[in-house]
Amino acid sequence: MIEILVKILVCFICGSSLLIYLALRKQYSYFKEHGIPHDKPAFFFGNLREFNRTKSLYDIFREFYTKYKGTARFVGFYLFIRKAVVLFDLDLMHNICIKDFAYFTDRGMYYNKKDDPISAHMLLLDGEHWKNLRTKFTPTFTSGKMKSMFTTVVDVADQLINVLEDERKSADMNVGIDFADLMSRYTTDVIGSVAFGLECNRLKDPTSKISKTCQKIGYFKHSMPVVSLMNTFPNLARKLGMKLFPNEISDFFFQIVRDTVDYRERTGMKRKDFLNILMELRKSETSDPLTMEEMTAQTFLFFVAGSETSSSVMGFSLYQLALNPDIQEKARTEMNEVMAHHDGKLTYEAVQDMKYLLQVMYETVRMYTVTPFLLRQAVSDYKVPNSNHVIQKGTIVIMPMDALHYDPDIYPDPQRFDPERFSTKETEKRHPMTFLGFGKGPRVCIGYRFAHMQIIIGLYLMLKNYRFSTTKETQIPMKYKLKKQFRDAEKGVYLKIEKL
Ligand code: HEM
Repeated sequence: MIEILVKILVCFICGSSLLIYLALRKQYSYFKEHGIPHDKPAFFFGNLREFNRTKSLYDIFREFYTKYKGTARFVGFYLFIRKAVVLFDLDLMHNICIKDFAYFTDRGMYYNKKDDPISAHMLLLDGEHWKNLRTKFTPTFTSGKMKSMFTTVVDVADQLINVLEDERKSADMNVGIDFADLMSRYTTDVIGSVAFGLECNRLKDPTSKISKTCQKIGYFKHSMPVVSLMNTFPNLARKLGMKLFPNEISDFFFQIVRDTVDYRERTGMKRKDFLNILMELRKSETSDPLTMEEMTAQTFLFFVAGSETSSSVMGFSLYQLALNPDIQEKARTEMNEVMAHHDGKLTYEAVQDMKYLLQVMYETVRMYTVTPFLLRQAVSDYKVPNSNHVIQKGTIVIMPMDALHYDPDIYPDPQRFDPERFSTKETEKRHPMTFLGFGKGPRVCIGYRFAHMQIIIGLYLMLKNYRFSTTKETQIPMKYKLKKQFRDAEKGVYLKIEKL
């Protein structure tokens, strides 16, 4: 009897292995059969065999871009077993992000509404659900709304300067101050305040419980290869109840949103912040009101996307300004002139006029994109214009933003930090798709105005008060952490400051 059972088991294992092998072989022959150039895939890993063992996604896509640039408009790529195409043609990128967006409304990334409700947020959601949320939230990010949050951001930036002055007095300037950490404390305090009216106080008390929890929000629960597998097999991952984010983070956000909403409903308190806008939306929607889970997921997203991205850009801006003292001086001179023009008053309008500082920010975003690529997923078959190829429904479309930003034919001497590249004159010379740092089209970064505001206010106040330079601890060349959602310096950004 046991012998028969063993035989059945062996047959079953062999049979299913054979079926899996045949299915994978068929999947991996797709680009070959359709005459689309591609690299030979490795079994199961596709074209990501070296991912994380020796290379980051940034490294992989830069090499891929250099290899295929100028040879094809798009090239096949296997993300493990998922079919993807990497775009090289800027007009095709324009079609996919803007003109023919209706075919590419999704990002095709993993979320799990049931077991991990904070993952069901605007960045990851697809289809109608995404569209509804995006429409509801668009009025939240207008210039008018940004203006109403301006003084809150300046208050936190003033605290940043106070804390920086204390650190300057106590820090060993041979080592310097870690600006990756300090900028992350600044942006979480800003976003905590404008998202929930919450005093995170990370600037003043970096060891508090709330500070420690905030430090963890930029991390996934699993390593990047596991997250990639969850993206590859979303249905299986959902059945297994897999979560993107640790329970501690999820519990933290649920509690804050629940407590704050309860408090505001009880006391009738109103504040000019994101949560207030969400609460109003909840009240006004009678047919399809926002649930507590949906509210929490969006506030969580604003927290992560609003703090992690901007703080990394601020840290790398200061890093480059320390490496390039002449550019630092130029930025300082320009902002002083702008302030003189605005009678020394830091206003929303003065910030908009700091054009060179804005160019510094754009050049930083060019060199340190928050993710290696932009993603879209075909929601129906798409016939590629002027070709016989079809991008099949379900295929992931990759726009290799980091590699594009380092293409020497677009940005000569791309390793050089040169904010002049983003003067109006220079920008107008380039194809609009050559800079993708905040994305493009209907899924462009919804918070870019907010990002400009908090970054420029913070940089302005720091550059006004201090001169930045490198120390023996400054990591040159820069390396990056591998487990984070957004790009972050491996060993911090240590810089010396001198009071002006
Ligand atoms: C320097 C700072 C920032 C950078 C570089 C950045 C970059 C990006 C990029 C590249 C995307 C993908 C766009 C695409 O696929 O076309 C994105 C999406 C998004 N960003 Fe940002 N971002 C920043 C700050 C912010 C802030 C401050 C917020 C909110 C407070 C925010 C909220 C979002 C949201 C909600 C999305 C998803 C939009 C959608 O799918 O409809 N981001 N961001």
